Amino acid sequence: MKICVVGLGNIGFNLFTYLSHKFPGEVIGVDVNESRVSELRSKGYRVTSDYRALTGIKVWLMAPSTGNQGQNLFAALKQMIIFPGSLISIESTLPPGTMRRVREFLEGKGFELGTDIFVIHVPHRVMFGVDKTVCDTPRVMGAFTKACLEKGRQFYVPLVPLLVEVSDVRIAELSKVVENVKRYIDIAFAQEIYGYCVTQGMDYDDLRMAVNSKSNVELLGTDWGIGGECLPKDMSFLRTVCPSTLLEGAEQADQDYRDRIVNQVGSGKEVLVRGLSYKTGVKDLKHSRGVDLVRALEATGNTVWVEDPLFSSAELSGAGFNSINEVDQDQVVDRLVLDRQKALDIK
Ligand SMILES: NC(=O)c1ccc[n+]([C@@H]2O[C@H](COP(=O)([O-])OP(=O)(O)OC[C@H]3O[C@@H](n4cnc5c(N)ncnc54)[C@H](O)[C@@H]3O)[C@@H](O)[C@H]2O)c1
Repeated sequence: MKICVVGLGNIGFNLFTYLSHKFPGEVIGVDVNESRVSELRSKGYRVTSDYRALTGIKVWLMAPSTGNQGQNLFAALKQMIIFPGSLISIESTLPPGTMRRVREFLEGKGFELGTDIFVIHVPHRVMFGVDKTVCDTPRVMGAFTKACLEKGRQFYVPLVPLLVEVSDVRIAELSKVVENVKRYIDIAFAQEIYGYCVTQGMDYDDLRMAVNSKSNVELLGTDWGIGGECLPKDMSFLRTVCPSTLLEGAEQADQDYRDRIVNQVGSGKEVLVRGLSYKTGVKDLKHSRGVDLVRALEATGNTVWVEDPLFSSAELSGAGFNSINEVDQDQVVDRLVLDRQKALDIK
């Protein structure tokens, strides 16, 4: 078996290292980001940015960033040298309808799915900060033919705790998007209720404790707003194919919540923002609503200081923020403190 992981970002690299342990010497990775590839090569990983070097691949596992129309996926498919008999598993989250386009693309190249090549969609469901590897969660698999499903089963059953097969590949596409949008809506609801509690002088944590004492209910925390890459992206995927006032309302609720944090602060203040990473416990500033908040507060004429236990002062300064640890904290008087766990409660 010769396996290639396409796209070596958060998901793909985790998958690459996981499989490299399972199948020593049989795994190679490809990414179009040259600097990422050089960095990984310098650490001894078997990776390349040259698709022409990838011959004889039996299993392609595709985890590139999606692109808003799935364009990164098609860019990769165009470059892959696909041999008859190979399995292509698309693991990226897809805008609904993409697998039909994948099928048309491959048939246009003369391949018959389920006979010449085997194509499946097995979307990722990892929760970074909770799962250790991308293979720790049950996975959903869909395909166009039974033969494709059978080939997928042979590969994934030994790797994942549970493989949930669906007969319609569109269900596999939609399942991942719906999973994320469901969470989006839950958070938007939490934002609305938290806002109401603050207006009424009630403690939201107490409300959560009370509501969540029943096992089938979970009222979520709210943080700085709905960030990260996946939830907003997957909401936009779903809204494109499924117009809905509920979805529209959830997006508006999130925007209103983020605006309210900024409006409550006003302008001309010294503000300390506690917690900057895109989510608690994950050291990453990309797609962070904390970063958006800092920039919005600065734009409204405030001086903003930041702290985050995951980042050193030097790292925060290097990323363009005023780290509170770099100043004598007592010198900053009349400072407002915003905490990511209680973003609407200003201290
Ligand atoms: N990060 C998560 O928690 C998470 C969870 C579930 C699903 N997903 C989905 O998994 C996919 C990947 O997410 P990620 O977080 O790893 O993204 P990422 O941005 O961290 O990494 C994506 C990588 O794909 C590479 N890439 C783009 N086009 C390419 C091409 N044509 N050929 C080869 N490489 C290419 C990029 O250079 C980048 O290194 C996305 O579809 C995402 O929605 C992510």
